[in-house]
Amino acid sequence: MSLDTSTHSTPGVAPEPAPEPAPGSSSLTVFLETFGCQMNVLDSQLVHGQLTGLGYRFIDDWKRADVVLYNTCSVRERAEQKVWSRVGEVGVHKKEHPGVLLGVIGCMAERDGEDTIRKYPQVDLLCGPGELDKLPMLIDNAVRTGLEARGGLRAAKIALQGDTHRRSATLAAAEDKLEMLDLARSFSPDDHQGSAYVRITRGCNKFCTYCVVPRTRGAEVHRPPTHIVDECEKLVDSGVKEITLLGQTVNHYHYDNTQSVELHGHLQPQIGSIIGPNRGTGGPSPTFGAGVTSFAGLLKTICQEVPDLLRLRFVTSFPRDFGDDILQVMADEPRICRYLHLPVQSGSDRMLKMMNRGYTVDEFMDLVVRVRTFLPDAELATDIICGFPTETEDDHRATADLLRRGGFKNSFIFKYSPRPGTAAYDRLQDDVSEADKKRRNNELLAVQNEVSAQVHQAYVGKTIRVFVESISARERKAESRPGSVELGWEKPSDEQVTQLVGRTGGDIIVVFDGDLSLIGRVIEVKIVSAAPLTLFGELVGSPASVL
Ligand code: SAH
Ligand code: SF4
Ligand code: F3S
Repeated sequence: MSLDTSTHSTPGVAPEPAPEPAPGSSSLTVFLETFGCQMNVLDSQLVHGQLTGLGYRFIDDWKRADVVLYNTCSVRERAEQKVWSRVGEVGVHKKEHPGVLLGVIGCMAERDGEDTIRKYPQVDLLCGPGELDKLPMLIDNAVRTGLEARGGLRAAKIALQGDTHRRSATLAAAEDKLEMLDLARSFSPDDHQGSAYVRITRGCNKFCTYCVVPRTRGAEVHRPPTHIVDECEKLVDSGVKEITLLGQTVNHYHYDNTQSVELHGHLQPQIGSIIGPNRGTGGPSPTFGAGVTSFAGLLKTICQEVPDLLRLRFVTSFPRDFGDDILQVMADEPRICRYLHLPVQSGSDRMLKMMNRGYTVDEFMDLVVRVRTFLPDAELATDIICGFPTETEDDHRATADLLRRGGFKNSFIFKYSPRPGTAAYDRLQDDVSEADKKRRNNELLAVQNEVSAQVHQAYVGKTIRVFVESISARERKAESRPGSVELGWEKPSDEQVTQLVGRTGGDIIVVFDGDLSLIGRVIEVKIVSAAPLTLFGELVGSPASVL
C-alpha cells in the first residue's frame, strides 16, 4: 500500500502487528466535510456509516487524515469557491504528504466532472451524489492501484452519472443501487442525537431555469413507501424522536404500488412522472389512481405505523401541487409539525415565469391562505433569489411586498448566481450589477427582519412545546475555546443547568436554561422575550414525554 501513514505512528512505541484486514476493509483515517443542503448532510451520514462499517476511522483534523473527502454543493458559485480553497490547501499539504487521498464527492463532482481533475490534479477521486454506493470501491481502488503512479486523469477514480441518469424508468429502476445505501444505513444512537433525516425522493424534475440540482441529482425518483416506513421504525427504535422527510419537491412524492418491481429481494424506487410546471395552474395535489401512495398517504401511513415518533417534518415543499389532502392530514395529526418551507423565489410574475416556476404570485398567496386556514398555528419560511436577469426595481419592490404579506418566520435570500449548464446561464445575460444585487439583498433582509421580529414577538408570554436539540451555540463556543478549562469553563454535568437550544413544531428556535438530560425530549417552555430569529424562555414544570 502506498499511502503514507507514517505521520500517525507514535515515536518510541513499537507498533502492534496490524491484523490482516478483511477483503474491502480498511484501517485508514478519513476526514469528511459537508457543504450544502440537508440531502448532503444525509449523504454524508450514509457515507460515514458505509465507511465505518468497513473499518475506516473518522477524525476531525484533515491534516492527519489518510483520506480527505469534501461532500460538495454547486447551487451557487460561492458554495463552490469554499471547496476550491479547501482543495488548494490539501494540494499544498500533499506536496509533503503525497500518500494522502483527496476525494471530491457530491453535486460539484457531478457538475464539474472531469474538469475538476484537469484544473486540480491533486484530486484523486470524484463521486457524484447518484453514485455514492461506489465510494468505498473508488477509495479502495485508488489505494490499491498505487498512488505514486497517479498522474491526473489517468489514475483518477471517477463515478459520475453524466448523461445516463435520465434513461428509461425500467432500466434505471433495475439498476438502482443507491437504494441499497439508504437501506444499509446505521441505526446507532451515536449517529443521530434524537433527530434524523429520511430521504423519500431523490433528484428533481422541475428544471427551474437558474438551478443545477436536476443536473447534479438527476431525475426525480421515489422510494418505496415500505422502505421509508421501515427506516422510520428502525430510527425510532434506536431512539430517534423527530424525523425530517427529504425531497427537493417533497410534496410531489408518489409511488405506484401496482407497478412496483422487486429485485434481489428489494422493491425498486420509481422514476416520477413529470408533474408540471406546465401542467396548468397551481391548486391541489394531482389525483392518482388506486394503489398509488401519495405524499398525504405517506404522511398518514408513517404516523399510523410509527406511533412512538414524536415529530414528523418534511422539506422542501414546492408551491405547486400542494393540495388540501396534505393540509388535512397535517391538521388531523398533531405529530406532524406545523411548518412549511415553501420557497417562492420572487414576488414578480414576470420573474417567476422566466424562472420556470410554474405558478403566479396570486397562486402562491392562495396557498399561503389555505395553509393558514387549515393550520392557523403554522409557521412558514421561504427562499428568495434577488437580481435574477432583467429584474427591475419594480420586480424587486414586488418581492419586498410579498415578504411583507407572507408573514414568513424567516427567509433565505440569495443573490442570483449564474450556474453553467442551466437554461438561465445559457440564454440570459447576468445583467443586474453586483452592487444592485447586494443592495436588493440587504433591502429584502431588512423587510424580512421586521416581519421575523413581529412573528417572534407574538410568542412572548405563551407557553410552547419545544424539542430540545443540544446545548446552545454560546455554550458550544465556550467549550471549544482554546484553554476554556483553564479559563474557568467546565463542561456541564448531566444534572447541571446550562443553556440549551430547541425548536418548536413551527421550527422557531428557542433558547432556555436546563440540564443535559432534557436533550432529545419534548418539553414546555414559557417565552419571556424575543429577538428577530430566536425566542428566549424558561422551563415550565416537569418535562412532557409526549406531544
Ligand atoms: N428544491 C427547492 C430548492 C433547492 S435549492 C425548491 O425548489 O424550492 C435551495 C435554494 O437555493 C433555492 O430555493 C433558491 O432560492 C436558491 N438557488 C438555487 N439556485 C440558485 C442560483 N443559481 N442562484 C442563487 N440562488 C439559487
Ligand atoms: Fe432546483 Fe427548482 Fe428543482 Fe428546487 S424545484 S431543486 S429550485 S430545479
Ligand atoms: Fe447543493 Fe446539491 Fe443540495 S447543489 S443544495 S448539495 S442538491
